[in-house]
This record gives sequence, structure tokens and C-alpha cells, in this order.
Amino acid sequence: MTDETGARPAQQPESSGQPQASGKEKYYVRFTLAQRYLHVVLFTSFLGLAATGLPMRFSDNPTARFFAREVGGFGAILFFHKFCAVVLTLAFLYHLKDIATRSFVHKEKGIFWGPTSMVPNWKDAQDLIGHLRWFVGLGPKPQFERYAYWEKFDYWAVFWGMLVIGFSGYAMWFAPFFAKFLPGWALNAVLVIHGEEALLAILFIFSIHFVNTHLRPDSFPMDMVIFTGKETDEEFQKKRTLEYRRLAAQGKLEAKVGEKPVYWWVNFARVVGFTAILIGLVLLVLTLIGYFGNA
Ligand code: HEM
Repeated sequence: MTDETGARPAQQPESSGQPQASGKEKYYVRFTLAQRYLHVVLFTSFLGLAATGLPMRFSDNPTARFFAREVGGFGAILFFHKFCAVVLTLAFLYHLKDIATRSFVHKEKGIFWGPTSMVPNWKDAQDLIGHLRWFVGLGPKPQFERYAYWEKFDYWAVFWGMLVIGFSGYAMWFAPFFAKFLPGWALNAVLVIHGEEALLAILFIFSIHFVNTHLRPDSFPMDMVIFTGKETDEEFQKKRTLEYRRLAAQGKLEAKVGEKPVYWWVNFARVVGFTAILIGLVLLVLTLIGYFGNA
């Protein structure tokens, strides 16, 4: 739940706490390669689950029927859905293993509490209020640590959603097994829970998460940091001012310096990222049409 960025080792001691001015733009590592790959696996499997789950949810809809026919029928859709579900489950389990290893084996500090933790704290509540005040011109813009309150919110929404959707999905998949210890009504309930929680997740990810991370003015049209793993000195100072200052004061800033992302990789990531955002927005529109069209 904290960073483990694996940036290049420190080349020189940090002295002043301020970045050295130089002609070359400086980059800092925010996400490791493993974290970036995990995010790719997460969003591709999620897009796959949404694209296959929606036709099942709105199976009366002509567009859903057309889509199902084109990919080999609802049997094929369910097969792809289960395939993506296994991929997403593996990614989730990998993440849990990563947290457990870092906290209990490597004894990494600050995973569950402190400035780099994903666990919400009192400052997040203050930041939320401060941000609302700033929106209406009643106060200064809050400054953020490693993870801002909305990033923690996004993380826990997905974490919690994964448990609910995952459990209900497996209960449907392996209904005869779950029927041994769940009452009959519960097996009916899991279908409703799965379908409704899935719609909530789709609406949340393709609207709030997209706006929070990519479409807000600071990052528009897309925050590349989740693909390149790096951000410029200017971005780091502006977006995560408190983390920047803390690392500088602790003399740890230079250890975060990384190489400039390679040009072809940035362009490739842009194509992948924009495609994912576009598919997500199309699915969002189809969800709204399916929901209100059938209401
Ligand atoms: C571990 C994760 C998951 C598993 C094991 C799983 C499994 C399943 C299964 C077995 C069904 C078929 C139910 C039937 O036979 O009628 C289903 C339906 C569905 N799934 Fe998933 N699923 C998972 C995650 C997701 C996610 C993340 C989404 C959304 C992004 C999603 C959206 C849906 C929808 C909308 C339906 C149709 C529900 C309905 O008919 O009301 N699923 N899922």
C-alpha cells in the first residue's frame, strides 16, 4: 500500500532540499515496473469484464444481442468473462501477496500508516474540506503527500468492489459448491449483488476515476505517470508538494531520480491509454443506455 519505486540509487548526497537547476529536465520515479504492469493487467481485464458483463446484464437490448452474436453467442461471452475474471483475480492476489511480503517479510515501514500509506487519515479529511473551500475561492489549494485523498478513495473503491464482485461472481460460477453452505435465496441474491455492484464499478471507474486521474486540469488529457512510471520535477513539486519536500528534507530525493522515459514508449503508452479511455467511455454510454433504456 505504499510505494516501492525502485528508482536508481542515489548518485550524490542531497544537500539543499531544492533540485539543482540544470539544462536537462529531471525525472523522478513514482511507480515500479511491476506496479505499472499490474495496472495494465488490471485495466485490460476490467475492460474485458465490463464488455462481456454488460451484454449479459442487458441481454434484451438489440446492441447487446448483436455483439453477442458477433462474438459467438452468450456462451462465448460467458467464457471470455470467466477468463478475464481469472486474470483479474490473479492480479488482485498478486497485489495482496506484494503487501504481505513488503510488510511482514521485508518489514517495510509505513505501509499501514504514515505519509506514504494508502490508509486514509485525518489529513485526508482536512484536504477534502480544504479542496472544496478552494473550489469556491474560500481558501488556498491544499498540498498533497504521496497519495491524495481521491487516489485513496479510488483505491479502496476498487479494493472493496473486487471483494464483493469477486465473491458473488465465484458463487455464481461454482453454485453447486456454494449451495452446500449458503441458503437458496443467497444464491439468487448474489446475481443481483454482482450485477448491481458491477454497474456501480463501471460507472465509478469510467467517470469518477477517469476524471480524477486523467481528465482533471492538472493531468488532462491523460496522466502518463502510470505508464511511464516517471514524472518531471515540475509535476512532482506541483502535484505532490509535501512528498517532494519531505523527501528533500530527509535527503532521499536524489534516490528517486530516474531516466527520462523513452520516446517510443511514451507514444506507445499514449495509444494504449487513449484506447482504454475511449473504450471505457463507450462502455459508460452503453451502460447508461442499457440502464435507462430498460428502466
Ligand atoms: C472475479 C471476478 C468475477 C467473476 C468470477 C465473475 C463471474 C461472473 C459470472 C459467472 C457471471 C454469469 C452469471 C450467469 O451465469 O448469468 C457474471 C455475470 C456478470 N458479471 Fe461478472 N464476474 C467477475 C467480475 C466482474 C466485473 C469486474 C464486472 C464489471 C466490470 C462484472 C460484470 C458482470 C455483469 C454485469 C454480469 C451480468 C449480471 C446479470 O445478469 O445481472 N463481473 N459474472
